Amino acid sequence: MIVLGIESSCDETGLAVYDSQQGLLAHVLHTQIALHGEYGGVVPELASRDHVRYLLPLADQVLKQAGITKAELDGIAYTAGPGLMGALMVGACTGRAMALALGIPAVAVHHMEGHLLAPMLEDTAPEFPFVALLVSGGHTLLAEVKGVGQYELLGESLDDAAGEAFDKTAKMLGLGYPGGPILAKLAEKAESGVYKFPRPMCDRPGLDFSFSGLKTFSLNTWQKEIESGNENEQTQANICKAFEEAVVDTLMIKCRRAIQQVGAKTLVIAGGVGANLSLRKSLQAMMEKEDGELFYPRIEFCTDNGAMIAYAGCLRLVAGETEPLAINVRARWPMSDLAAI
Ligand code: KG4
Ligand code: ZN
Repeated sequence: MIVLGIESSCDETGLAVYDSQQGLLAHVLHTQIALHGEYGGVVPELASRDHVRYLLPLADQVLKQAGITKAELDGIAYTAGPGLMGALMVGACTGRAMALALGIPAVAVHHMEGHLLAPMLEDTAPEFPFVALLVSGGHTLLAEVKGVGQYELLGESLDDAAGEAFDKTAKMLGLGYPGGPILAKLAEKAESGVYKFPRPMCDRPGLDFSFSGLKTFSLNTWQKEIESGNENEQTQANICKAFEEAVVDTLMIKCRRAIQQVGAKTLVIAGGVGANLSLRKSLQAMMEKEDGELFYPRIEFCTDNGAMIAYAGCLRLVAGETEPLAINVRARWPMSDLAAI
């Protein structure tokens, strides 16, 4: 089965063609970073309009790269949530209409399920069951994954998602958008051991997270340094490092707890923050000590992309799942609502 995947839930237009026999045939991505940059964050209406501009030309481009025609497609998968309503509507309407015109089935994909299954696109893919750490701009959660659609929530963020905390902290430090990768890059220039930030919620049992306090801690530290006349790039870098270390350490501690709690030997990280190299390094070292294995997607499939949607959609289409003609998108969509396949 050959599936066209469409991702348009936020600030990236991603399209891909996945073949259940041959794997990923092609993928293309248009990022809206330049568009939102001057506003310091995503402007939803601008995001929707940009998806309208790019989606169809990118669909032509990805099919060409895959070396197939529209007539050879067997199904279309689009992100139906969670995400920005307008942005989701563009991908869903286009995908659903295309499927109708071509007389093929369409399937609505959960964005976070896409992220969660993205490591399966790699040559060495994890096997079920495993524990997944999903860390993106909108979500931070730990789940026990027994199969596709079988997600048991172990813990989640009670306030900001990890990516959101990266983005807001970067913004407070005047570093621009998108904050996560910029903050991580600047942290590389830090002097070691200047600050030690707290590891929130690690001193009590449980697998939930809270990152909003760390963001405030960073702001207070920065303001104190400004008052002391230390408003310079080195101070910013040192704060970035202390913030990153605190987030990474907290995520590592909770992941270790989660795999010990469920007796898992496999940990999967996915979502935009999964692109963070310090996080990968820390989780790798932890899993080696635990005598287990860590899996993650290549960097470009950690952040939003069409390949993960084409793949998750293909699995669901093969299992016989299809969408009716109505176009449904959801800003919020608990993963527990997904059917097991
Ligand atoms: O998965 P994603 O592309 O979109 C959502 O589904 O939200 O994740 C985007 C998030 C942003 O918050 C971004 O700052 C963060 O992932 N991010 C990073 C890095 N690369 C992306 N955070 C920390 N370090 C990175 N290298
Ligand atoms: Zn995402």
